Amino acid sequence: MEPNLFATAILAAGKGTRLKSKRAKVLHSIAGKPLLQHVLDAVLQVTRPDQVFVVVGHQAEEVERAVAATGVHFVAQTQQLGTGHAVQCLREFVRGATDLLVLSGDVPLIRPETIERLRAFHQAQQAAMTILTARPENPFGYGRILRASPTSPEVAAIVEQKALAADQQHIGEINSGIYVFRVNTLYRYIDSLQANNAHGEYYLTDMAAILRAADERVVALETTDATEVLGANTIAEMMELDAALRMQTARRLMAQGVTIQRPETCVIDADVTVGPDTILEPFVQLLGNTCVGEDCHIRSYSVIQNSTVGNKVLVRNSCILDDATVGDGASIGPFAHLRPASEIGAGAHIGNFVETKKARLGIGSKANHLTYLGDVEIGSGCNIGAGVITCNYDGVHKHPTQIGDRVFVGSNATLVAPVSLADDSYVAAASCITEPVPAGALALGRARQTVKPGWVKQRRAAQQKKKSS
Ligand code: UD1
Ligand code: CA
Repeated sequence: MEPNLFATAILAAGKGTRLKSKRAKVLHSIAGKPLLQHVLDAVLQVTRPDQVFVVVGHQAEEVERAVAATGVHFVAQTQQLGTGHAVQCLREFVRGATDLLVLSGDVPLIRPETIERLRAFHQAQQAAMTILTARPENPFGYGRILRASPTSPEVAAIVEQKALAADQQHIGEINSGIYVFRVNTLYRYIDSLQANNAHGEYYLTDMAAILRAADERVVALETTDATEVLGANTIAEMMELDAALRMQTARRLMAQGVTIQRPETCVIDADVTVGPDTILEPFVQLLGNTCVGEDCHIRSYSVIQNSTVGNKVLVRNSCILDDATVGDGASIGPFAHLRPASEIGAGAHIGNFVETKKARLGIGSKANHLTYLGDVEIGSGCNIGAGVITCNYDGVHKHPTQIGDRVFVGSNATLVAPVSLADDSYVAAASCITEPVPAGALALGRARQTVKPGWVKQRRAAQQKKKSS
C-alpha cells in the first residue's frame, strides 16, 4: 500500500425510519439523483473507486444495483446496530489504509473541495480523528460538538441531541457525520464502543470521547457553508435540500449566461447543461442529463427529460420531451409530445398536439397540427398536414413508415405501415395509404365525393308534408 493511503467509507446501511417510506433512505432522490449517488459523485472527484467502500444493509441489493456502475466496493452490515458498528464492519477491508474518510449516505450536498480540505486538515493536525462541523441556522436533531476549549481545534466529545444536558442545548456547532480517522488508532479503540444510549446503538460519535480519553488528538474543522452538510432524515428535509440544490444549479447556469425567470419555480436537475443566452420561462423543468444549447427559448410548463436540444430552438408552452433530440433552429409546440427516439431536424417544426415516437424528421420538415408520427423516417422539406396519422401498430407488431424528401401529405391522411412515400410525392387529404407511393406521384385513396343538387329543398318539403298529414 502507498504511504498515506486514504480509504473512503460511505455509511448507507440504515433504513431511514424517520422517512416512513418503503424505500431505503439513500435511494430517495433529490435534484433527480439518489442521495447516495450525490455523495459518490463528490467522493469520486477526489478518490479512486477501488478505494471507496459503501456499507450496505437495509435493501442492500437495490442500493448496490443503483450505484454498481461507479465501480466502488460494497461491505455488508447485515444488522444495523449503529454508525459505530457500520465502521466496525469495515475493519478487514481498510486494513491497508493509513487513514479512513467516513461519510454519511444521507448528507448529499458535500462538495469535493470540502473533502479535500478535511483530509488536508487531518494530516496537518496529525489527528487520530478529525470531524467536519458546521453551524446551521437550526442545529436541532444533530449531534453537538463539545470543544476542549472555545479557541482550540480540539474536541472533547460529541453529544447526540437526545443526550444533551440542559446547559448543552445552546451549542450551535453540529457534527456533520463526516470524519477522517487514523486507521490503526481507530481500530485499536473501536471495540470500546457501548450501546448504552437512547437507541441502543453503537454510535461512531462516541469515538471522539474514547480517543480523547486515550490521549489521542481529536479535532474539528468547521465548514464555511452549513448547507453542504445538512442531513436528510425526513421527506421535508429532503425537499429542502432538493430546493437548495436546484437553486445552486440555477445560480450556476445564470452565472454562465442563462436567463431563468423566477428560478424558484423551475425544476432543474444537477447534471443539466444550458448554453448562454437561452431563456427559461417560469415553471420549466429540465431533468436527467438534458442538454439545451445557446439562444433557445423554453416557454412555461415544458418538461424536458434526458433530451438534447440544439441552438436557437423555440420550445413553446407545455411540451413534453423525453429522450428526444432537437436540431438547431427547430420549433416545438405548444402542447407537443416528443417521446423516446424522436429526432427533430434543424429548422423543423412540430406544432400543437403533435406526438412523435421513434420518429426522425429531416431538415426544415413540418408537422404543425394534431398528428401522430411513430416509427417513421421523414426526409427534409416535407409538409405533414393536420391530423395525419402513421398507423404503425397492427395489434401485434410495430411497422415502419418511410417518407422521402419534399413530400406533401395532405390533412387527415392515414399512412398504414409498413408503407413508403418516395421523394416529391403527394398524398391527397383524407387518403388511406396502404401501398407504396412512387417518386413524384400523387396518391389518392379516399371515397369519391357525390353531390346531390337540390337535396335539402326536397328533404324539407318531404318533412313538411309528413307534419301536415
Ligand atoms: C448522525 C450522527 C450525528 C450527526 C448526524 C449528521 C451518530 C450516532 N450520529 O446522526 O451526530 O449530527 O449523523 O447527519 O452517528 N447507518 C449505517 N448503519 C447503521 C446506522 C446508520 O450504515 O447501523 C448509516 C445510515 O444509512 C446513514 C448514516 O449512517 O446514511 C447516518 O445514520 P443516521 O441514522 O441518519 O444518523 P443521524 O441520526 O442522522
Ligand atoms: Ca442522518
